[in-house]
Formats: sequence, C-alpha cells, structure tokens
Amino acid sequence: MNLLVTGGAGFIGSNFVNMVLKEHPEVKVTVLDALTYCGNLDNFPQNVWENKNFSFCQGNILDRDLVFDLMKDQDEVVHFAAFTHIDRSIDLSDPFIDTDFKGTHILLEAIRKYPVRRFVHISTSEVYGSAQKVPMDESHPLNPQSPYAAAKAGADRLVYSYFLTYGLPVVIIRPFNAYGPNQYPEKLIPFFITNTILDKNLLIYGNGKNTRDWTYVKDCVRGIWKVLQAPSIEGEVINLGSGKEVDVVGIAEVILEEFRVQSSEFRVESSKSEELKVKSSKMEFIGDRPGHVKRLIASYDKAENILDWHPEIEFEEGLKRTITWYMDNTEWWEKIREKPEFKNFEKLWYDKLKVKSEKVKV
Ligand SMILES: NC(=O)c1ccc[n+]([C@@H]2O[C@H](COP(=O)([O-])OP(=O)(O)OC[C@H]3O[C@@H](n4cnc5c(N)ncnc54)[C@H](O)[C@@H]3O)[C@@H](O)[C@H]2O)c1
Repeated sequence: MNLLVTGGAGFIGSNFVNMVLKEHPEVKVTVLDALTYCGNLDNFPQNVWENKNFSFCQGNILDRDLVFDLMKDQDEVVHFAAFTHIDRSIDLSDPFIDTDFKGTHILLEAIRKYPVRRFVHISTSEVYGSAQKVPMDESHPLNPQSPYAAAKAGADRLVYSYFLTYGLPVVIIRPFNAYGPNQYPEKLIPFFITNTILDKNLLIYGNGKNTRDWTYVKDCVRGIWKVLQAPSIEGEVINLGSGKEVDVVGIAEVILEEFRVQSSEFRVESSKSEELKVKSSKMEFIGDRPGHVKRLIASYDKAENILDWHPEIEFEEGLKRTITWYMDNTEWWEKIREKPEFKNFEKLWYDKLKVKSEKVKV
C-alpha cells in the first residue's frame, strides 16, 4: 500500500509516520513536506531513514505539478501539512490561507484526477471556537476565532464539499490539542517545559483559566491509523480528544511541580536527571491573546462507537513522559530555540503582550 503523508516532518505527522513504519511493514510511506520553520528532519530516527519503505520529498503542497505527479502512485493520503501556530496567524495570516486552504484545494483536485482509496484530512477542534455546549460533539457549530482556525474551517468544509459534490472518499478528523515528543517548542506545553529547563518564566495569557482538551500524541496517531483503516466511513467527521479539560495554570503547576519533585527525588528516569537543579521558574501573567478561545472539551463518543478508539494515556502520565522526552533530547530543541525563526517570533510576540499587560496594570 502506498501512503502519502503531507506535513509528515512536523509534530503529529512524524509521530504518525514513525508509528506506521514500525508497526505496518506492508505500507510504503512517502512524506511530502516543505520543511517550513517547524518541519524537522531530526523528527525521523536513523532506522526510519534506513527503512526501504520510507521516502522523503521536500516540496510544497502549493506546487500543483509536484502534487499531481506524486498522487499518480498513491493508494491513500493523510493530510497534515499546515501552518499551525495561532499566534503566528494573528501576526501574519497569508501563509495560513495559502497552505491550509489553498494547499488543501490542490490536494483535492489531485485526487479527483488520480483517485485514491481514502483521503484523511486532519482538521482541528479550533474550527468550533469556544464551547457553546459541553462536551463538544461533531455537530457543534463552527465558529473559528483566529485566522488559523478560519483557514482550517474553510479547508474542513472544502474537503466535505468534495465528498458531497464529487463523491471523493474523504474522512475528516478534528483532533483536540495534542502534546508529546517532537512538538515545536513555541507551542504551549514544550514552551513551558523548555522554559523551565532554561530557568525562564512560564508566560501565561490573560488569567490562565482558558481550558483545552489534551490528547497524548501516541493516542492521537493511533486514532488516525484507525480512521485510515475503518470500512465505510467516507464523509464522516470524527473528533479525537480526551473528554477532559485542563486550564493553562493547571498545566504550568503540574510542570513546575514535576521539576520540583524531580530535582529533589530524581523520580522520573532520565539520563539527564543527575544534572537537575532546583528551578526558579514561575508563572508570569501577560496580556491575553486576541480572539482567545475560552474552552474546548471533546466528546469522543463517535470515535469510540465507530472506531473502538479511546485515549489510553492520562494527562498527568503523558505530561511526565513529555517532560522526560524534552529533558533527554535537549539537543533537539536547543537547536530550534537558537534559530532566528524561533527567537524573533518569541521576542516580537511576547514583548508585545508584556507591554499590553503593563498598560492594563497602569
Ligand atoms: N498540534 C495540535 O495540537 C493539533 C491539534 C489539532 C489539529 N492539528 C492539525 O494537525 C496537523 C499537524 O499539526 P502539527 O502540530 O503536527 O503541525 P506542525 O506545525 O508541527 O507541522 C506542520 C508540518 O507541515 C509542513 N508544511 C507547512 N506548510 C507546508 C506546505 N505548504 N507544503 C508542505 N508541507 C508544509 C511543515 O513543514 C511541518 O512539517 C495540522 O493540520 C494541524 O492543523 C494539530
């Protein structure tokens, strides 16, 4: 089976590809990834590079000729490629509209011409906006609150329209927030973990009471594989989430506490634990993100009913595993945090919000 994975060098995509190559030797995977600032070849371990079932194509989903050419040989597609950071979409939305919406359109046109057995579109819970009722099932109204979410909502509905109009074999997944190894360190959980290791403060938007529903990435990619395999689910929209909410302050507290406990007891097995020192990081409240979604909490009943999927890793356990991974892989994220793409954005964005919060205090 030939499987095309767009955006496979990013966070969820690389976890998905590494899992498929390990557990499904019958699948040949081609990753198409533009290697934007958050695409990272280090996300594939050496055994993946040596695997004859793996090939990597550096290219853009906006490159129509390339996409059409690649699609000739594919049986299935999982489409992760996107610009994904809400904060960046507030700063400059063009690449979000281009990749997330127009790029998805090009992929859909390609599978119209070169049919595949299944096209799995990775949408997002952000398309719902803040919860109007909880838990949020797939019939919850769409009310995107950021340019990222709007571009993804447009793509989500465009994919569905290709099912209704052309009968394309699409399935749409709406994951709630994922976390775990390989996540670019500007996203909340790896930002907090790496800031703590660096003895920096954990910067919290507004009052930190906004909640999200968190799924450990290994659970998320298991769900995506199930969607790829399940019979007769074309046209379905499926949430992947945990059904539990945690607010930002709660996450910061668990991370700070975990470092405190680790530094006193060396509790988590980590090759770096002997280097642990007591951290002086603390929570620092700054201005709020414009359009900030207040609350997201998933109903995953549909995934349970039709895929027999439910999350297996509790949030505290997943968070501990994630902390351990970032401690054991400092080289991976230090390289990223040194790059101008990270530094410039961090400075520009957080300085702006710190100034805003100073003005509010005055
Ligand atoms: N991370 C989450 O919590 C989360 C939650 C819900 C949905 N999603 C969705 O899951 C998907 C993957 O998210 P992620 O967190 O792994 O993202 P990520 O930002 O880590 O990775 C995105 C990948 O897409 C690639 N890419 C970007 N533009 C491209 C283009 N024009 N052509 C080819 N490749 C391109 C990047 O190089 C990168 O490797 C996205 O569609 C995102 O909207 C993510």
